[in-house]
Amino acid sequence: MKNTDANKELKQLVGKAAAAEVQDGMVCGLGTGSTVVFMVEELGRRVKEENLKIVGVPTSFQTKLLCSQLNIPTMEIQDCSYLDLAIDGADEVDPELNLIKGGGAAHTREKIVVAMAKKFIVIVDETKLVQRLGEKFAVPVEIIPSALKFITQTLIQLGGEPQLRMGVRKDGPVITDNGQMLLDVRFPATVNLKEIDRILHNTPGVIETGLFFNMAQEVLVGTAATQQVTRLSKN
Ligand code: A5P
Repeated sequence: MKNTDANKELKQLVGKAAAAEVQDGMVCGLGTGSTVVFMVEELGRRVKEENLKIVGVPTSFQTKLLCSQLNIPTMEIQDCSYLDLAIDGADEVDPELNLIKGGGAAHTREKIVVAMAKKFIVIVDETKLVQRLGEKFAVPVEIIPSALKFITQTLIQLGGEPQLRMGVRKDGPVITDNGQMLLDVRFPATVNLKEIDRILHNTPGVIETGLFFNMAQEVLVGTAATQQVTRLSKN
């Protein structure tokens, strides 16, 4: 499970750096999570103080609410087919800039937004860097509730240990912004997650996985020792 309170200063650092990449006239996908909050707050400041003209495309109710509080104009995902830029956090980043996302249950909309964007910038603190996806974080899989038993069994057969994500201060499972449920799946280091991802995309009832292969062009990493942003780019 992710820790939204951790490394606030580093999250703020990368959030501000990413907001500086947004230019006048852009339609920009806005991810979800505690790092994105800092980025959206900085965009709000730029809209107010620098008269920045942008349209944000939020990936969750949380981000839409924040945009509304900060007077950032928004468009719905369903009204878009192309975005200039998408900025989002991640739960894990591997050396090839592949990601695990979905700790905030928003990865399906986040993946749609990223797929539409000309460029995708990821913002993380250095604790999110791993050598292998799945090292620390389980893979979130959004599913249709009626397929819960079937997909749980399929994941076990694939070598995974699925757990239904439960609500905090709410009885029962987490229900996503799409009205669906989530399985968080631990896999042994020996499995090929790309192959698992391919199989899951062919499994009825699976909506989307939190595996983002070959989607990020740039990752901004907040580093504690230097209190600076390091840029990792896809060659
Ligand atoms: C939302 O579902 C996620 O994909 C987030 O982008 C991810 O969990 C990172 O969130 P934090 O910035 O809160 O760590």
